[in-house]
Amino acid sequence: MLIFHVCTRGRTCPKRRSCDVAEALREAIVEFDAVAKAVVVEEACLCLCRTGPTVVFMPGNHQYGHVQPADCRELVESHVRLQQPLRRLLAVGSA
Ligand code: FES
Repeated sequence: MLIFHVCTRGRTCPKRRSCDVAEALREAIVEFDAVAKAVVVEEACLCLCRTGPTVVFMPGNHQYGHVQPADCRELVESHVRLQQPLRRLLAVGSA
């Protein structure tokens, strides 16, 4: 299973539209016909608050920062279709 963990219950990410990010990820998963293999899981703080909204993709522990709803289609395409991380959004130090 491909999992996009989104911080929607931390202190800062929700103020930066992380709930909209979660919704945009869900829409992109549908668009790429990946409902059977990819999910969005809304989380409490993922300890990357300074660069939120935060998305962590598993497997691989790819940590994304400053994710906006407009980025989500490209993010889902990278992992679901191209099977590679989206380098431009990776948080510093992320794999
Ligand atoms: S509040 Fe989102 S990572 Fe901490």
